[in-house]
Amino acid sequence: MAARKTLADLRSRRWFAASDMRAFAHRQRAQQMGLRREDVLGKPCIAIVNTWSDLSPCHAHLRERAEAVRRGILMAGGVPFELPAMSLGEVMVKPTTMLYRNLLAMEVEELLRSLPVDGVVLLAGCDKTTPGTVMGAVSMDLPTIFCPAGPMLNDRYLKPGQAEGKVGDATHPAMTVGAGTHTRLFWDEYQAGRVSEAEWVRLEARMTRSPGTCNTMGTASTMTSIVEALGLALPGSTAIPAMDAAHTRMATTCGERIVEMVWEDLRPRTLLTRGAFVNAAAVQMALGGSTNAAVHILAMARRAGVAWTLDDLDAVGRAVPVLANLFPSGDRLMEDFHYAGGLPALMTRLVAHLSLAEGNVNGKTLAQNLEGVQVLDAEVIRPLDRPVSPDGALAVLRGNLAPEGAVMKASAASPKFFKHRGKALVFDHPAQMNAACADPQLDCDENTVLVLRNAGPVGAPGMPEWGGLPIPKKLLALGVRDMVRISDARMSGTHYGTCILHVSPESAIGGPLACVRSGDMIEVDIEARRLHLDVPDDELARRRAAWQPPAAPVERGYVRLYREHVTQAHEGCDFDFLQGAAPTPEPVIF
Ligand code: FES
Repeated sequence: MAARKTLADLRSRRWFAASDMRAFAHRQRAQQMGLRREDVLGKPCIAIVNTWSDLSPCHAHLRERAEAVRRGILMAGGVPFELPAMSLGEVMVKPTTMLYRNLLAMEVEELLRSLPVDGVVLLAGCDKTTPGTVMGAVSMDLPTIFCPAGPMLNDRYLKPGQAEGKVGDATHPAMTVGAGTHTRLFWDEYQAGRVSEAEWVRLEARMTRSPGTCNTMGTASTMTSIVEALGLALPGSTAIPAMDAAHTRMATTCGERIVEMVWEDLRPRTLLTRGAFVNAAAVQMALGGSTNAAVHILAMARRAGVAWTLDDLDAVGRAVPVLANLFPSGDRLMEDFHYAGGLPALMTRLVAHLSLAEGNVNGKTLAQNLEGVQVLDAEVIRPLDRPVSPDGALAVLRGNLAPEGAVMKASAASPKFFKHRGKALVFDHPAQMNAACADPQLDCDENTVLVLRNAGPVGAPGMPEWGGLPIPKKLLALGVRDMVRISDARMSGTHYGTCILHVSPESAIGGPLACVRSGDMIEVDIEARRLHLDVPDDELARRRAAWQPPAAPVERGYVRLYREHVTQAHEGCDFDFLQGAAPTPEPVIF
């Protein structure tokens, strides 16, 4: 354990405690804001990095939560400074929040570097805000605690004409609905003509009942759970519903605890060992977590200097079954998970797969934090002998179509496609794909393998969530709800289906996906982790030699920087100049 810090060790004193003109100006400006001289000279200065905005509905409550954090900091003898950071509301930001995850990470790193702060509370939760803020904080490596935004509340939806019984009875037809997964589910039914126009309009007002992150086990809940498993959030904090009073109390505790973490000099890189990443991967699998986590875990591990590959993730995936009965792998939502005991309860089922000596921001080991924890609902957090899916949530496939790997959410896919051979139908752009899939004459059947390319980190750019390729309308009408779909894109964590994603290297830089032609045969074997394009090597070599990169879009500014420096999916899609654990230099104060 690091030596306890004294007042003289505080980083903020570089700004405030010198006897030169600059320090005079810093103290003067602090007093201009109503702070007393002794506050900035005698107490830890704590940043509250807040990703709130008016266009980030999942974070709509974070201004109030910042006040709760502030209260905790003050009670513990610190001085709070709220710092707004880029707010990436998943649904509103176009073309994709993934394009901006690295920008948020850079912003957080530079905010912390350039300002007089000794520790930080990160307020975030929507998909990319969690890895983005954590990546930046890990690079800066000041004492950090992650305060998750918390999931939105469940809602109930009753189909017209099914109003008998009493809501709450197991037999009542009202179904629990949440964001994301249900949108896709009802959209497919609407497309197939089984949901009316009026019902579709009614549904729009349901599903997203309160502020908070998506309440399925999508990317948001996967990533906040992973950050808790990494030890960067308080035990049990991620599943607390955003609108629960316990969420406000948790935020206050984050504020209180970060002050003590500054004195203890407990930093992210102390917590982020290889064992912590094993714990994070085990949790991802047991939750049936989002495929997006594969990319974000790689990026966070590289920032922490931990060697981590897709193969490490696959090894955990083969060993840990899905135990959390949560959409899209199961049929419950995050509020139910909270009532069942949340992440600590799930982790008690996984002890054989966990590194129990790893630390947490609360100063205890995982073993200590799991003492006395119980599962409160075995239907939501299943026992090992009754899993939701005996196979892991995620499989990493390789082959001549994905030499550096591709990922698939096996627990949300159709087992009938786990071993499959089908004819490729290739699309170069989502607009072309959407138009074709709406065509009643499209030449395809349920065994066709749909392929979308130019959707990766460089090609799109930003690797959007286009990987849940639509089922052609003519097949929807016949009752088909799943097909094998392959792309170099990502997929929303709330979606389901046999979608093979993150094919690396991507097609836009000449990866093998660029050489596929409609009519080629593609083979998928999940057990063997194989993805194969059944085309002779010499023919593939001819196609590769004739391949021309797609015309580069005219870009400027950040997007140009992104395309020039983003790494591939199997490397975490971080910028090449931000990877690695080299210390972030402190600014010159002059
Ligand atoms: Fe924000 Fe899903 S849209 S968490």
